[in-house]
Amino acid sequence: MLYLVQPAAYAQKPDVDFFDDRQMIIGAYYYPEHWNPEHWERDLKKMSELGFTFTHFGEFAWSMMEPEEGRFDFDWLDRAIEIAARYKLKIIMCTPTPTPPAWLTYKHPEILTVDEQGIKQRHGSRLHVSYNHPVYLHYTEKIVTQLAKRYGQDDRIWGWQVDNEPHYGVLYDYSEQHQKAFRTWLASKYNTIDDLNAAWGNAFWSQTYNNFYQIRIPNASEAPQGANPHALLDFQRFNADELASALRFQTEILKKHIKASQWITTNYAYYKFLPSVDLFRNQNDFHFASHTMYLTSQFLNDSGDSLAHRLSSGMELSFSAEFARSINGYTGIMELQPGQINWGKINPQPLPGAVRMWVWHSYALGDQFACTYRFRQPLFGSEFYHKGILEPDGTTLSAGGAEYAQVIREIGDLPIPNKIRLPKSLKSRNTAFLWNQDNLWDLENYRHHEDWDTWQYFYTYYESLKSMGARVTFIQEKDSFDPEVYPFMVAPAFQLSDDSLIDKWEEYVKKGGNLILTCRTAQKDRNGKLPETLLQQSIYGLIGGEIEFFDHLPAAWPGKVDHNDKSYRWHIWGDVIKPAEQTRVLAKYADQFYKGKAAVTQRKLGKGSVTYIGAWSHKGELEKAILSEVYQNNKAEILQLPPYVFVEWRNGYWIAVNYSSVIVEIPVTKGANIIYGNPVLAPGQVLVWSSE
Ligand code: GAL
Repeated sequence: MLYLVQPAAYAQKPDVDFFDDRQMIIGAYYYPEHWNPEHWERDLKKMSELGFTFTHFGEFAWSMMEPEEGRFDFDWLDRAIEIAARYKLKIIMCTPTPTPPAWLTYKHPEILTVDEQGIKQRHGSRLHVSYNHPVYLHYTEKIVTQLAKRYGQDDRIWGWQVDNEPHYGVLYDYSEQHQKAFRTWLASKYNTIDDLNAAWGNAFWSQTYNNFYQIRIPNASEAPQGANPHALLDFQRFNADELASALRFQTEILKKHIKASQWITTNYAYYKFLPSVDLFRNQNDFHFASHTMYLTSQFLNDSGDSLAHRLSSGMELSFSAEFARSINGYTGIMELQPGQINWGKINPQPLPGAVRMWVWHSYALGDQFACTYRFRQPLFGSEFYHKGILEPDGTTLSAGGAEYAQVIREIGDLPIPNKIRLPKSLKSRNTAFLWNQDNLWDLENYRHHEDWDTWQYFYTYYESLKSMGARVTFIQEKDSFDPEVYPFMVAPAFQLSDDSLIDKWEEYVKKGGNLILTCRTAQKDRNGKLPETLLQQSIYGLIGGEIEFFDHLPAAWPGKVDHNDKSYRWHIWGDVIKPAEQTRVLAKYADQFYKGKAAVTQRKLGKGSVTYIGAWSHKGELEKAILSEVYQNNKAEILQLPPYVFVEWRNGYWIAVNYSSVIVEIPVTKGANIIYGNPVLAPGQVLVWSSE
């Protein structure tokens, strides 16, 4: 296997190579339980003829696998596996825990989740159980063990998916058992109630507790003036720990029974409305993290361009793949739409070509496999307008299906180069994005400006990095900060910090790293409290300056920042900086009562540099200009791509994809060998080339 960068914490290096990184194989979801068994053979044969090489079974089929308590029926699944294997389709087998059968929730209603308003969720949908309830775990153990024993030594099973998009259903469970579990978690974290009172600042508004039994999960519906922010942060940590432990519970059962050649993953969705999904928490449990992506849902990052509803901005697919890859060094995309979906705000047709482009983009980002959701369009249930590879008649290829057939051929035909050398330019701009889920929670709990949106803020930086063609790896504070591997590190709004992190940053910079810090960094301690110092005083030494104060403006009255000869607008956040003597000012506020003061500074330290970007500019244009200056001044060879155009490199090939709404010209070196497409690239199109 060839990976561009091994994350420092390569937690679980597999004994066997599960994938051949020089290729990407493509599969499709199939639900035998949805179709007349007489059609299984026709369908799976067709899947194979179209070039798909694997399929995906079982994640919602508990009531078919165990129709009554203790009565297991896998005969139907055996038959489906046998047919799939006959047509040379490998199988991803799933545990069915997102959909408990009716007999189970009827017998044990205590396992059902309770929402913020106190309403118990009932049978009739999915993902409505408290996944860590001891009773649910008991039943989980039985069904997962049965599956693992039956298929864990079966060569036809390629790998395992635990559950489905964990936490996509009920994010926060307020049931009595979860209240109890939260108290137990707190008692083990704090030992004494006095320590908890101190950590949460409970002297404020007389919130002091006498014992752990009095504590309830912070709940906006029960708290007229908003819940205690420190309690909320702990609850979010607890909730993420709970999710991680429920997933671990299943991986441990599987590992007892499956052979070394079978891998285990889950198909993470980690959108902004699912903040409890922290991939790093299960880094040691799964062989890798896989990811899902529905580009036209309209809930995600939006370029605002005229074709955005048909193409998406591409940012989410890119971010999602790079994040998942950062966990264990490689990943695959488990769900990718083959056409229109059913659950978006609106559900437009993808632009002709977009389905193919998404698969190519996923290839370019290094996904080891891509699996489309789903092979057949369902005729019933909640998702019947969801396109499949086949139309509802079960035989006609959909438009997206035809694009899949095309891209499968194209990727399959790509010659495998003999020698693969990592381009120097890629190494020179390799970037670490420092991640700690605590920051995400704390920033979101206390946005402070109504327009503050933490994901959008992270995307501001991520978009700038992608426009320079940088490969981005998300790392944690405990990982090695090595400037040889990562000449650049961005840590946007890294709000919670302590001295050891600041020392680690300093050492990274002294050894040659270029660190980019931004507004809100180091404002708080790990409990989300302000330290008894000047605001952000702990980073004054590191950034070479003092943060005098921050300002917010109404959207209707934005402020101005000047950088070189250009002026940029901002309104959400502006840190006003007083630079030390040796510190350069890169940008200044151009109006307000602090006109002329610094908005962006930079200082040299040892062999490296620290840049502090205090303002969040409109569309991130200031950030983009500053980053490209910092990269260029520090020997990075960067691209200057138009917005929503991506260029990636994989195994000897460069791949460009165009998510913008205009035709763009891709900078291709002279003498390049063009494999597919045209350097004058239309929206939704792909260019693949190789060059020496
Ligand atoms: C995903 C989910 C699938 C299916 C799909 C429809 O989020 O994991 O089970 O519901 O959406 O687009």
